[in-house]
Amino acid sequence: MSRISWIPLFACAVLYMQSATAQKALDFERCRYGDSVCHTKITNELIKKYGATGVRSLHIPPFDPLRIKSLVLPPNPKALINARLSFTNVDITGLTNAQNIKVEGFTRDVTSPISLSCTVPKARFSGAYEGEGKILGANFQGKGNCVIELSDINLTSKIDAKLVQKSGKNYLVINNVSLVMSKPKNVRYQLDGLYHGNPELSATANDFLNGNADEIFEGMRPDMQEIFAVVLHEYMTKCFNEWPYDDLFLPE
Ligand SMILES: *[C@@H]1O[C@H](CO)[C@@H](O)[C@H](O)[C@H]1NC(C)=O
Ligand SMILES: *[C@@H]1O[C@H](CO)[C@@H](O)[C@H](O)[C@H]1NC(C)=O
Repeated sequence: MSRISWIPLFACAVLYMQSATAQKALDFERCRYGDSVCHTKITNELIKKYGATGVRSLHIPPFDPLRIKSLVLPPNPKALINARLSFTNVDITGLTNAQNIKVEGFTRDVTSPISLSCTVPKARFSGAYEGEGKILGANFQGKGNCVIELSDINLTSKIDAKLVQKSGKNYLVINNVSLVMSKPKNVRYQLDGLYHGNPELSATANDFLNGNADEIFEGMRPDMQEIFAVVLHEYMTKCFNEWPYDDLFLPE
């Protein structure tokens, strides 16, 4: 899912809107350094306000739906589905309904990792897929549309960042991002176009996918997490390159 992230956008949006220009444009309060209650509150407000529209004047794209241009899951001989699956133009919806949002670590010196977390009650991935390989040792082949619904996923990320001086101002540089996605409460798959559209084989394969949804998802999870982390890294890098870090917070 190479365009998955809402978290970077939250963070990005939060800080964007706390900058002087953003404040002027959007009338948001700036928080003190390290005030995670305030950062969390503003993140919540911004998600509700801008999640579906983005902020065009600030070049922040919407993140509900969030468009992932491509995602490739490599074959995994240890998984129930040992297939190469590639997805294109996947839309993820449901991210504006994120709950239990927590934002921590935007301190003055950024000496500890930044952490961002939330619960997404229902995330729906829909888009085109193509795949071939084996399911339970039987040949598998498909090309068409697919929908994957995940309910109650917790996303927790740790961001290793540091301040670097540029033209006499501090900028936040993101070193490393790690992200953990909890096991969803429920997963539901619907893949069209399996076995060249053969309805019986398709129904059997979808039943199999849904009957083993958790285990199949486990096989996909490391790749999903990795891609989320990469996207988060990219977005945060983009955002924090733009504005001096200290301009995003109330002066002390
Ligand atoms: C998800 O997060 C919520 C709130 O922090 C917590 O109550 C719940 O146990 C978590 N679920 C999982 C599966 O980690
Ligand atoms: C980045 O984070 C991952 C996961 O926590 C870790 O394995 C890796 O060593 C880290 N890399 C750097 C350069 O810090």
